Amino acid sequence: MFETLKPVGMDPILGLMAAFRADSREQKVDLGVGVYQDDRGRTPVMTSVKEAEAKLMELELTKSYQGIAGDPDYNARMLQLLFGADHSILSSGRVKTIQAPGGSGALRVGAEVIQRATPNAKLWVGVPTWPNHIPLLGSAGFEIKEYPYYNLATDEINSDAMMETLRQVPAGDMVLLHGCCHNPTGADLSHEQWDQIADLALERGFIPFIDTAYQGLGNGLNEDAYGMRMMADRLPELVIASSCSKNFGLYRERTGSITFIAENSQQVDIVASQAMSIARQIYSMPPAHGALLVSLILGDDQLRANWQAELEEVRLRIKSMRSLLTSSIQGNSAGVDFSHIEQQNGMFSFLGISSAQLERLREEFGIYIVSSTRVNLAGINSSNIGYISESMNTVLK
Ligand SMILES: Cc1ncc(COP(=O)(O)O)c(C=O)c1O
Repeated sequence: MFETLKPVGMDPILGLMAAFRADSREQKVDLGVGVYQDDRGRTPVMTSVKEAEAKLMELELTKSYQGIAGDPDYNARMLQLLFGADHSILSSGRVKTIQAPGGSGALRVGAEVIQRATPNAKLWVGVPTWPNHIPLLGSAGFEIKEYPYYNLATDEINSDAMMETLRQVPAGDMVLLHGCCHNPTGADLSHEQWDQIADLALERGFIPFIDTAYQGLGNGLNEDAYGMRMMADRLPELVIASSCSKNFGLYRERTGSITFIAENSQQVDIVASQAMSIARQIYSMPPAHGALLVSLILGDDQLRANWQAELEEVRLRIKSMRSLLTSSIQGNSAGVDFSHIEQQNGMFSFLGISSAQLERLREEFGIYIVSSTRVNLAGINSSNIGYISESMNTVLK
């Protein structure tokens, strides 16, 4: 039977990673892959995570099945992390969180639940968005529609065009929003834009589906949660997929959660039961290890303080790499303006250079960047910034 199958092409980012690995040049630089790297180019295990792992070794008495919703402590603590301990939604009875295999698993379970509730709902995604949103959510059955998000010519959110399109979204459709640190553009909604979208959701009757994969990497744990906290205050229904891959550095442990807010507690219980039945059909139960670590960290004052300090270091390092890159290429002889890089948030921004310039960077200098010109700012460090800016200034001439 397998002779009927055709090979599927490699994801362009994975292809770029393979080409990078095969490149024997010593000075090569990877600005493509979407993981955090420290100043030595490593993606280390956070010290707080290591401490939690040591604690878990002592505390863990069984590897028996945990249950479809995962660890109840993790779910409760994730809710507090997302909304803040004092948010009124926590005592409203209208919210439920279920552990999921990473942000991707959370997005998929959320999408399947929405499909069951409203099979004809369309999903509106900003252009551009994280490329995997389309297959991940589209294959749950959504018809995908687009709204303009980023203007490459001005390096800003295309606010007027975005609002104009969102004003046409029919009641019952879903609108995908990035909670913070927009991937791939780094351009986040301002508080005012979040408020305007909430106004439109109330007016039109569409429902936001928020993907928050970088809480704490933009402007801080609370600041990065503005949109979802405000929407949880104002809207009757909301779906939030969250990931601990980046802010806890737990990538391969597949740790995330899917959160539903419904009009009342009976409804949210039904939604949660549907989410669990979907999880049961796909993977049965989420992996435990990462969630147990997050739960231990968030439930212990000292571990939590250590983790927050480490996360803050990550956030500030990315910010300083943004400033460093901007200042070192801003004076280029072609007069190209890169000031947006310094102002944007999270790991990614578009360089906005031509594909010929991108190719020269790869071929001549061994600097690997994905074709959209999205760069991972965390791939820059004190050892390679000189080389990157020299190479950039050469190709920009
Ligand atoms: C915007 C966005 N959402 C979701 C994810 C998925 O994260 P996870 O690795 O936890 O599945 C990513 C990962 O890069 C992302 O950038």
